[in-house]
Amino acid sequence: MSDRAPISVLWPDPSPEPVDDDTLIARYGRADRPRLRMNFVTSVDGAVSLDGYSAGLSGTPDKRVFGLLRMLCDALLVAAGTLRHEGYRAIRLDERRRAWRRAHGLTEYPTLVVVSGTLDLDPTQAAFADAPVRPVVLTHRNAAAPPGLTDVAELMRHGDDRVDLVAGLAELRRRGLSQLLCEGGPHLFGALTAADLVDEVCLSIAPLLAGAGPGRITAGDPSPARRLPLRHVLRADDGTLLLRHARH
Ligand SMILES: NC(=O)c1ccc[n+]([C@@H]2O[C@H](COP(=O)([O-])OP(=O)(O)OC[C@H]3O[C@@H](n4cnc5c(N)ncnc54)[C@H](OP(=O)(O)O)[C@@H]3O)[C@@H](O)[C@H]2O)c1
Repeated sequence: MSDRAPISVLWPDPSPEPVDDDTLIARYGRADRPRLRMNFVTSVDGAVSLDGYSAGLSGTPDKRVFGLLRMLCDALLVAAGTLRHEGYRAIRLDERRRAWRRAHGLTEYPTLVVVSGTLDLDPTQAAFADAPVRPVVLTHRNAAAPPGLTDVAELMRHGDDRVDLVAGLAELRRRGLSQLLCEGGPHLFGALTAADLVDEVCLSIAPLLAGAGPGRITAGDPSPARRLPLRHVLRADDGTLLLRHARH
């Protein structure tokens, strides 16, 4: 864990003092009920990426919260598109974060859950091949698995020819994976919103204008607007804003 990216609280309880990791943990926390939390970074003008990747938007403060949210979750959901494009590696947490998890009765690492309709996945990708915990692939009953995938991941099939996210997330919760963190990408975010499964959005706003070109952090079929109240606003020294919006 790191206090190297100074972050202070703008709202509620504003204070110019940098917060330590314990305060950040208390601000983000684990919920006493099942929760799906989304975590995204965007530019001031709403871009999902810079030069095609999220890395160009993500500075040290965003990375600090990104790592903290991974520490706090039971399972980390990611869409196959983002896993492939961003070249996801195996989830790693440093010793302090693993110790925190052990002390709180959690497994050392969260479970990676990849959402895919086509199962166009590479079993040799480090996210699967080097995973400290056997990943789960959430797919549907008609998807054909490529050779080797079931050697490195468990397939969970929900839905006949498209992934039934409601049933899939319910099954994860039945398995005790109640605190779900989703790192995107936009099509998965859009589908989770449409299914009314999103409880919380943690959003980092980088002090950048990305300009026209990149898409938004959500994509896919339109769905009704839903209120998501603001819970906190943090500010990093580099001008990044860290927002938490949640239903509860
Ligand atoms: N700014 C950020 O915080 C952030 C975060 C994440 C990603 N990104 C950016 O987003 C871009 C990638 O976006 P993307 O358009 O590829 O969207 P995406 O949602 O990452 O991936 C779409 C793919 O994921 C799978 N998928 C998503 N939703 C699904 C559903 N409901 N059911 C079944 N499968 C589903 C499908 O994979 P199959 O083809 O295998 O069926 C689909 O083709 C990249 O530029 C990445 O850098 C940015």
